[in-house]
Amino acid sequence: MHSPLERSLPSLSLLLFLWIISSISITTTFRPAKAFNVTTLTFGESYSPLFSKFNIRRSPDDRTVSLLLNRLSGSGIISSDYYNYGFFSASIKMPSKYTAGIVVAFYTSNVDTFEKNHDELDIEFLGNVPGKAWRFQTNMYGNGSVSRGREERYRMWFDPSKDSHRYSILWTPTNIIFYVDEIPIREVVRNAAMRGDYPSKPMSVYATIWDASSWATSGGKRKVNYRFQPFIAEFKDLVLEGCIVDPVDQILSSNCTDTAAALMAKDYSTVTPETRKSMRWFRQRHMYYSYCYDTRRYPVPPPECVILPSEREMFTSSGRPKSKTRAGGSQRRRSTKRRSKAAVDLSRHQAAM
Ligand SMILES: *[C@@H]1O[C@H](CO)[C@@H](O)[C@H](O)[C@H]1NC(C)=O
Ligand SMILES: *[C@@H]1O[C@H](CO)[C@@H](O)[C@H](O)[C@H]1NC(C)=O
Ligand SMILES: *[C@@H]1O[C@H](CO)[C@@H](O)[C@H](O)[C@H]1NC(C)=O
Repeated sequence: MHSPLERSLPSLSLLLFLWIISSISITTTFRPAKAFNVTTLTFGESYSPLFSKFNIRRSPDDRTVSLLLNRLSGSGIISSDYYNYGFFSASIKMPSKYTAGIVVAFYTSNVDTFEKNHDELDIEFLGNVPGKAWRFQTNMYGNGSVSRGREERYRMWFDPSKDSHRYSILWTPTNIIFYVDEIPIREVVRNAAMRGDYPSKPMSVYATIWDASSWATSGGKRKVNYRFQPFIAEFKDLVLEGCIVDPVDQILSSNCTDTAAALMAKDYSTVTPETRKSMRWFRQRHMYYSYCYDTRRYPVPPPECVILPSEREMFTSSGRPKSKTRAGGSQRRRSTKRRSKAAVDLSRHQAAM
C-alpha cells in the first residue's frame, strides 16, 4: 500500500525533472552567441534625414540618433546609399511609457525608384498596451508582389523600451535572415519558384516613427496619447554593410560579385545548427501569426514556406493561434490596394491586432 504522499512523489520528481530540463533548455537557447563582427558608423557616414528634420536629434558624437514623434509629426531617416544586398542593423531602444498607436519601423525598400515593382524587407514594432508584451512583425515583398503579403507576427520576450537591442536584416542573393540580437527569428531561403517575389533590386535602408492610431494597437482601439509626447526611438550601433550601387545604373557602375561573396561568408549570413535551435525556440513560443500557416489566405503555402509540424500545430487551419497562444492575428483585411509609403501597407491588416 502506498500512502497518498508516496503516490504523489513520482509526479513531484517528474515536475522537478521537467523544471530542470526546461531551465537547461532556456540556458542553452540563451547562451549568448558570439557578437557579430561589424563596423558601426556615425549618422553622417550612413544616413540622411527623410522627413521632419526638426524631430531628428543627433548625439554630440553622431553615433546615436533619436527619432521623435509628437503632435506635429513623426520622423524618419534613410541610408545615403542604395545597396545591392547587405547586412543592415541598429541597436534600437523603443519609446517607453504609453506607446499604443505608435509604429517604429526599420526596413529596406526601393519604392522611390521602382514604384510599380518595388522590393521591401520590414521589421515593424507595434506600440503596446501598458502591461502587455510588445508586438512586432516582419514582412517581405519582391518586384511589386504587394498582393502577396508574407507577414509574420511575434511577441517580444523582453521589454524593448528598457534597453537597446540589436535588430538586423540580412539580405543576400540566396537568403534573408531577420535577427533580434544574435537570434535569427526568421529565415527565407531563396527558391526558384519564388521568381521575382524574392527582393533582388538595390534597396535603401529606412528607420521611421509615426502615428498609426487607426490600426496599430488593438485594431485601432488604442490611439496615440499625446499627453505622453514626445515618443522617442533611439538608434545607435548603425551598421550598413553591402555593395553600394547606383539604383538605376547598377550594372555599369558597380560589380558586386566580390562584395556579395564576402557578405555570404560572414558569420551572420548562415543559420548554424546552434542558432537554429534559438530560432525554433523563439518561433514556437513567440510567433502568433505566419502567412505560411494561414491556409484560408494561401491554400497552397508560397514556395519558400518550410512547414514544420511543431509550428503548424500552434495554429488553426485559418492561421489563427490556438487558444493557448491566443493573441489575435486573424481577421485580416485583404485589400490589394497599397499606399505609396513603404511600411504603410501594414494598415491593410489593421484588424489583426
Ligand atoms: C572582423 O572583420 C574584419 C573585417 O571586416 C576582419 O579584419 C577581422 O579580422 C574580423 N575579426 C574577427 C574577430 O573575426
Ligand atoms: C519584375 O516586374 C517587371 C515589371 O512588372 C517584369 O517585367 C519582370 O519580368 C519582373 N521580374 C521578375 C524576375 O519576375
Ligand atoms: C565582376 O567581377 C568578377 C570577379 O571579380 C568577375 O569574374 C566578373 O566577370 C565581373 N563581372 C562583370 C559584369 O564585370
